[in-house]
Amino acid sequence: MVTGGSGFIGANFIRYLLEEAGFEGRIINVDKLTYAGNPDNLADIEHEYPDRYIFSQTDICDKAALENIFERYDIDAVCHFAAESHVDRSIVGPDAFIRTNIQGTFNLLELARSRGDRLSLFHHVSTDEVYGSLGADGLFTETTPYDPSSPYSASKAASDHLVRAYHRTYGLPVTVSNCSNNYGPYQFPEKLIPLIILNARSGKSLPVYGQGLNIRDWLYVADHCAAVWEIMRRGKSGETYNIGGRCEKQNIDVVRMICRLVDELAPAIKPREGLICFVKDRPGHDLRYAIDCTKLEQELNWTPRETFETGLRRTIRWYMDNTAWVERVQSGEYRRWISAHYGTSTRG
Ligand code: NAD
Ligand code: DAU
Repeated sequence: MVTGGSGFIGANFIRYLLEEAGFEGRIINVDKLTYAGNPDNLADIEHEYPDRYIFSQTDICDKAALENIFERYDIDAVCHFAAESHVDRSIVGPDAFIRTNIQGTFNLLELARSRGDRLSLFHHVSTDEVYGSLGADGLFTETTPYDPSSPYSASKAASDHLVRAYHRTYGLPVTVSNCSNNYGPYQFPEKLIPLIILNARSGKSLPVYGQGLNIRDWLYVADHCAAVWEIMRRGKSGETYNIGGRCEKQNIDVVRMICRLVDELAPAIKPREGLICFVKDRPGHDLRYAIDCTKLEQELNWTPRETFETGLRRTIRWYMDNTAWVERVQSGEYRRWISAHYGTSTRG
């Protein structure tokens, strides 16, 4: 069972399992299809693998429906991606974050536990944001104390604790991964990189929070998927693995780099950097994230394939080539959220 498989990372993960990793089993994707879940992300996979890929539109907060799925499909492993994932939304409306990220994870754990020996692994996909913010120095390790800043990261922290508690208390076989910022194909354009690519492409303003000095550690999504799969195959039960790109960048540098690449790939009269505008900062905005992923590198031999330059080029090309996906995703819910939250003028 993959939860949240119609979202950004989950869809990339299912694609990776079926097309690259040599996985030979069946996958059931359990996804509620919130604004962030998009059936287009796996439409071709559904067509190509009718016997090995099954989709169920199910809310992980609906325990009875989940129970049905566990029994009917004889689930033997869970990879849990489903979550409300956007920090800004969690600041405006935390309720769904508490429900899905905490109660939903709890439901899955209870059902996983009820399967006893029939369940070989529960892998929980989490974030480096649970560790809070770094100052100028240091890196997050697997033993850094939790110190979440936003309702999103607090809800993910709660879910991580529940997963570990189910291992210690009930012996549930679990692994946990805490990953840094992902980017790549199929990311919903509310997150920094796809938002800036699409706005730059269409000449809209490029909103940078505060002075753009916050630092994130960027990882191409396929490299995250490969790491999760290695952890599922070869990680030790009860262990946590940090995943990161060793690729720290200030937001303003990321935005400038996107501008340069968009200028190169789709030349315009004026350089896109002129579209940058500095806007009100995010409340509780963590200054810096940076992951120490030595454990994953040394124990499981994982290294990312993409550099930031190659990954960003691929990503920009993907958004330019997939205009139908972009148009569909930018209709409806997305437009309503942007105008309700920011008004129509700030972002052009
Ligand atoms: P996303 O928002 O793109 O996708 C989330 C998916 O979960 C969507 O398909 C949505 O429909 C589904 N979902 C939401 N609520 C649900 C519910 N109640 N029941 C069933 N499905 C539900 O998120 P993403 O960026 O792909 O992130 C996936 C996971 O990875 C999350 O757990 C997130 O915390 C974690 N993560 C993300 C990043 C990142 O940079 N995006 C980094 C580290 C960890
Ligand atoms: O670190 C992992 C986390 O990365 C994941 O757990 C989250 O699910 C994922 O959304 C992401 O969180 P961030 O808040 O870091 O990502 P976001 O793309 O929203 O923002 C990246 C940085 O860019 C952050 O410092 C805020 C800033 N930003 C963001 C947006 C949307 C801007 O300056 N302007 C923007 O318009």
